[in-house]
Amino acid sequence: MGLVLGIDVSTTATKAVLIDPSGTVRGIGTAEYDVSSPHPLWSEQAPAIWWDAAQTAIRAVLAATDTAGADVEAVGLAGQMHGAVLLDSAGTVLRPAILWNDQRTAAECDEIRSSVGADRLISITGNDAITGFTAPKLLWVRRHEPEVWVGLAHVLLPKDYLRHRLTGDYAMDKADGAGTLLFDLAARTWSTDVLTDLDLDPAWFPPTFEGPEVTGTITPAAAAATGLRAGTPVVAGGGDQAANAVGVGVISEGTVALSLGTSGVIFAATDAPLHEAHGRVHAFCHAAPGRWHLMSVMLSAAGSLRWFRDALAPGEGFGELVAGAAGVRAASDGLFFLPYLSGERSPYPDPLARGAFVGLTLGHDRRHLTRAVLEGVAFGLRDGLDLMLAAGMPRPAQIRASGGGLASVVWRQILADVLDADLVTTSTTEGAAFGAAVLGAVGAGWFPDVPAATAALVRTSPAAAPGLDRVGYVEAHAVYRKLYPALAPVFHRR
Ligand code: XUL
Repeated sequence: MGLVLGIDVSTTATKAVLIDPSGTVRGIGTAEYDVSSPHPLWSEQAPAIWWDAAQTAIRAVLAATDTAGADVEAVGLAGQMHGAVLLDSAGTVLRPAILWNDQRTAAECDEIRSSVGADRLISITGNDAITGFTAPKLLWVRRHEPEVWVGLAHVLLPKDYLRHRLTGDYAMDKADGAGTLLFDLAARTWSTDVLTDLDLDPAWFPPTFEGPEVTGTITPAAAAATGLRAGTPVVAGGGDQAANAVGVGVISEGTVALSLGTSGVIFAATDAPLHEAHGRVHAFCHAAPGRWHLMSVMLSAAGSLRWFRDALAPGEGFGELVAGAAGVRAASDGLFFLPYLSGERSPYPDPLARGAFVGLTLGHDRRHLTRAVLEGVAFGLRDGLDLMLAAGMPRPAQIRASGGGLASVVWRQILADVLDADLVTTSTTEGAAFGAAVLGAVGAGWFPDVPAATAALVRTSPAAAPGLDRVGYVEAHAVYRKLYPALAPVFHRR
């Protein structure tokens, strides 16, 4: 029986998921690793750990499911976005990869805006320069590590380093390519203008492919290392957010995904390369061919609740903690929480933004504080959604939600009320790795295209619908919107 393998090179682990033609997950192999932070604000990983972890994860899933490499018809790749992997002309890694959550490049972001022009940058790439993206990292290495820079011959993203080890090819998918800030969003390829303005050599950047396109095949050496069959096709796949959207079936314009993990992401598929006028939400290519997406990223979503639990109710279960919030009226009797605990991306691209409780009275207790955290995250997500609506996407009637935060019935209801949309969960739970497998399945010819694959494989179930509190939350959100601008001078003082 034919199977396909989806691999996600995430920040914490590499995960390999085997699926069959019905979309059933046959098995999962995982190998974990750490992030290193050699200086404050830095976040790095040695690419070799991804290759080691991938070998372990692939071997584990093949063994656990008693699958022969020859039964795997295609491999799809997903991974953490934006990381800069620098190689010399022999394919040797020149320095540790600088990851998506590294914050060292504020000066280089300014340099990019002034070299390309702030408005021109947004009109070409769809995005403003933020520290997480790849381009400012390249400028940082050029400025600070000339001995590395002189050897540079290839720039890859994390999952594309794994691709290089598996197939020998230098290649990238268009969704992840757009997250470098060096892409012409509408043309779905490298921007000659931006590369020229930043004095970056086009020869360093690999050819880019649509998500289900085959970029190469497993080499004999990679086959020996992983147990896969030499010659197995590997498809382009996608950055983790785009691959996750494929996995939950968010492909057509008007469909929206919410991922409520440590970070909170709202992802909307679009038929055209829309972008927000000030680049306050991300605009990238989708992993589905010829489609794009808008995306707002909140850095501390369920991460805010975890912080709150660890700081104020250590050892308590989330279920017990959140149950208390159900006994408090919507809008927490005037208490507000700002979730910018690790700075923010959308709607405020501000590494100096900070969290806050505002409006405390003697009448508030822990239940109010908990509810305010859940509501503050929902309000912040609504800010992102509103920017995406302003960019021209249609208002979603339904949002496909996933992530640990969805376990809470109270939070689900708050999200449905604040986002003013039905929330549904999906039958597919393995996120980006599942989406990568779906792209592999299309590449293997199991389905004619990505929409047909997700229509066949993804089922939804109702999770929450907007209720009476929806109305009161409109007013509370308007108050919340005033808090960041009022507090920003405090956050920015030195
Ligand atoms: C997306 C982003 C993160 C990483 C995490 O823009 O930076 O979601 O891809 O893996």
